Amino acid sequence: MGNIQAPRGTYDVLPDQSAKWQEVERKIKELCNLYQYKEIRTPVFESTELFQRGVGDTTDIVQKEMYTFQDRGDRSLTLRPEGTASVVRSYVEHKLFGQPDQPVKLYYTGPMFRYERPQAGRMRQFVQFGVEAIGSKDPAIDAEVIALAMDVYKACGLKSLRLVINSLGDTESRLAHKQALIEHFAPSIGEFCSDCQTRLEKNPLRILDCKVDREHPLMATAPSMTDYLNEESSAYFEQVKGYLDELDISYVVDPNLVRGLDYYNHTAFEIMSDAQGFGAITTLAGGGRYNGLVEDLGGPESPGIGFAMSIERLLLALEMEKVEIGTGQTLDVYVIAMDAQSKKKAVATVRDLRASGISADMDFSDRKMKAQMKSADRKQASFVIVIGETELESGKAAVKEMATREQQQVPFEQLADTIQKSKSMEE
Ligand code: HAM
Repeated sequence: MGNIQAPRGTYDVLPDQSAKWQEVERKIKELCNLYQYKEIRTPVFESTELFQRGVGDTTDIVQKEMYTFQDRGDRSLTLRPEGTASVVRSYVEHKLFGQPDQPVKLYYTGPMFRYERPQAGRMRQFVQFGVEAIGSKDPAIDAEVIALAMDVYKACGLKSLRLVINSLGDTESRLAHKQALIEHFAPSIGEFCSDCQTRLEKNPLRILDCKVDREHPLMATAPSMTDYLNEESSAYFEQVKGYLDELDISYVVDPNLVRGLDYYNHTAFEIMSDAQGFGAITTLAGGGRYNGLVEDLGGPESPGIGFAMSIERLLLALEMEKVEIGTGQTLDVYVIAMDAQSKKKAVATVRDLRASGISADMDFSDRKMKAQMKSADRKQASFVIVIGETELESGKAAVKEMATREQQQVPFEQLADTIQKSKSMEE
């Protein structure tokens, strides 16, 4: 029997990579605070019905990609494939629509699960950061949500970004477009895959999203949503664009941008990376407006908009653009003990340093001084403190600043202060 490995489409974040994750997550939290989005944490699994109703029965996600199982109480549960349905469920369940300040502005980060074919940037378990602003249909909030997504990438140091937007219109516009799509595809639907044949009746918009029939000539000539937007929907889209202009956010309008989830209307957007070296997948983030979803899940009229991005694709983009992130984690002090007696003092010294907010580490394998010194170098300690017989007798430790190679004797009780002072001088 071979060794057990992580399941296909999953991965481990090892210690030499986790600093990047923490740095990205730190920036996200900082920006969400600046924008006043508050964190929401919802369960990793939900009733299967939530996603069937929320994400949509005809979507690839619900049809092919969900991790669905019966629990021991015979309930059908699903590992969440995305966050919006859960957040809206929670908004309704806890009557957040009743709060005086609408929209309620929320963000989340956490693992999502989709049974997809793994490739670069596509995993079966991935981490999404997403935001939802629920309870307003002001086009200014559409622009704010888009600005926040762009700001996250910029704060991380990405430059080759492209924002693509489209309007999917309101219900009336969508119905008109749907009718046009049916008329366009129906005569030749036999030439399409069986999925598309079902889609024709249920949700012809999904045909435009089909991975199998992508090259069919009728795809390129399909009626564009833009031509079916009613006056109100066009006006709304114009206002969103106006606010984006106001925020100096450049964008391209792509009338073929259809998102893979059913709940969208009006504004839809994706952020792509133009960095060299990306594989087939260049979409970093996607989002849009979902007026009607709150009602579909049993709440009062509360229009919403949001987006989600995977941290994996963000890190991939950073790699492609050769941006270093999260490499600033260092060790302040490595404490070296020369013998068993000194080791006791070392243990206490490390504790005292840490209690003063100084990061400290020591040897736990009783190694020779030389080997300990090498560890201190590898860990890039700013200071090394050596404790031996002489130091114990004199009550002073030998403190070496690694950058300058300067050495001084410091009384044990003044160690933390001394290090603290030199640290603040460096900064
Ligand atoms: P989505 O387009 O399905 O939208 O996913 C959003 C983002 O999640 C993608 O752009 C990508 O960064 C990431 N993602 C999706 N699938 C994978 C995967 N298999 N591996 C790695 N990353 C992946 C949603 O999920 C919507 N809930 C977004 C939203 C929020 N719309 C409104 N509010």
